[in-house]
Amino acid sequence: MEYFNYRNGELFAEELSIAEISKTVGTPFYCYSQSAIEEAYQQLTTAIQGLDLSVFYAIKASSNPAIIKVLADQGAGADIVSGGELRLALAAGLPANKIVFAGVGKTRDEMAFALAQGILQFNVESPQEIEALNSVAEELGLVAPIALRINPDVDAKTDARITTGKADNKFGIDAKDALTIAKQSSELKGIRIDGLAVHIGSQLLDLEPYREAYKRLASLATNFMNEGFKLHHLDLGGGVGIAYDLGQAPDLNAYASIVKETVHPLGLPLMMEPGRSLVGQAAIMVSEVIYTKDATTKSFAIIDAAMNDLIRPALYQAKHAIKPVHESVSASHNRSYDFVGPVCESTDTFAEDFDFSELNADDLVAFYSAGAYGAVMASEYNGRPLVPEVLVKGDSFSVIRQRPSYEDMLRLYSLASWQI
Ligand code: LLP
Repeated sequence: MEYFNYRNGELFAEELSIAEISKTVGTPFYCYSQSAIEEAYQQLTTAIQGLDLSVFYAIKASSNPAIIKVLADQGAGADIVSGGELRLALAAGLPANKIVFAGVGKTRDEMAFALAQGILQFNVESPQEIEALNSVAEELGLVAPIALRINPDVDAKTDARITTGKADNKFGIDAKDALTIAKQSSELKGIRIDGLAVHIGSQLLDLEPYREAYKRLASLATNFMNEGFKLHHLDLGGGVGIAYDLGQAPDLNAYASIVKETVHPLGLPLMMEPGRSLVGQAAIMVSEVIYTKDATTKSFAIIDAAMNDLIRPALYQAKHAIKPVHESVSASHNRSYDFVGPVCESTDTFAEDFDFSELNADDLVAFYSAGAYGAVMASEYNGRPLVPEVLVKGDSFSVIRQRPSYEDMLRLYSLASWQI
């Protein structure tokens, strides 16, 4: 179902008018639909039914505890990459034993906190990290359950900036070294090797690279088991893409078939870490036009959201669909605008020569597919307070992260002692 819809020319999130919400919270803001998240989760779990495949939501996509809780209430665990994300997941009410800790540079402090909480698994990425985790666990008198994250050297055929499974990426342990490293580590008292993991990249629209990666994972897992390792599970990572052009998303049934043909026959419980595919289409970012400007070759719509609020276009040249909050009477796209923010950089551009109906100051516009890597990647660049987040369910909405006041923003700063 579509949860951002027009009713009599007005954009709604579920049963609520976006214009009404923006009167209360001001602009810019992110607006999530709870039903859209729940539906994405249901579609995934339906597709993977019967594969013994558990879902650990990669909270880096949107780590607001309210969003994590929506998915936790559906049955998802969490995939985290920092001590901060662990605290956000715990704040959402997730039990530690449904949390997996990934990431290439976990610190000893983060490891100790996660161990003390009793998390399900650490996905480790280097021999040095294994040694560090072992010593932290021994100091605490605990054993750390680990999965070795393997770098399968597969091209995910996605944007190079979000590719992670090639040999020259910083992620994972080379597949050819994995067994040797595992054998060397098997004497360590503070760790227990429970599984193997892969994650080859993000925003995959072509699912075939998974087939190669999962085949390599399955063959490595077989070698491990032949050598006497008791694997408890395999972690298949995340990365299934979404349709930023609002067209057809990758087919989850096709993904499930690849899992069924490659890793499922081993008979091991499976895990996955989707982020974007669960929340990406479940939010819009709403912004107000401040000015329009006709220059010699272009027209600009200067809006109150900027690259600090949604950085994906500036960082990856990502294209988010833009729609008006009040459809114009003619609804004809008779104008073309560059949508730009107030930040003092030319990369502060959301779209170039984008066909749109006539815009005027105070008009509201919505950026689609903003639920993943949107609000979480926001910053205070140019002295702009962090953008707030709102969750809608039916005809109710709730602010799930407030817009900080300027006082809030200034609170952590101080002049140096010699400047006072
Ligand atoms: N697991 C691991 C180990 C990851 O590194 C990631 C994403 C995921 C799971 C979740 O991947 P997803 O299902 O969301 O594709 N900021 C970029 C995306 C960075 C993805 C980083 N890792 C963007 O805005 O496109």
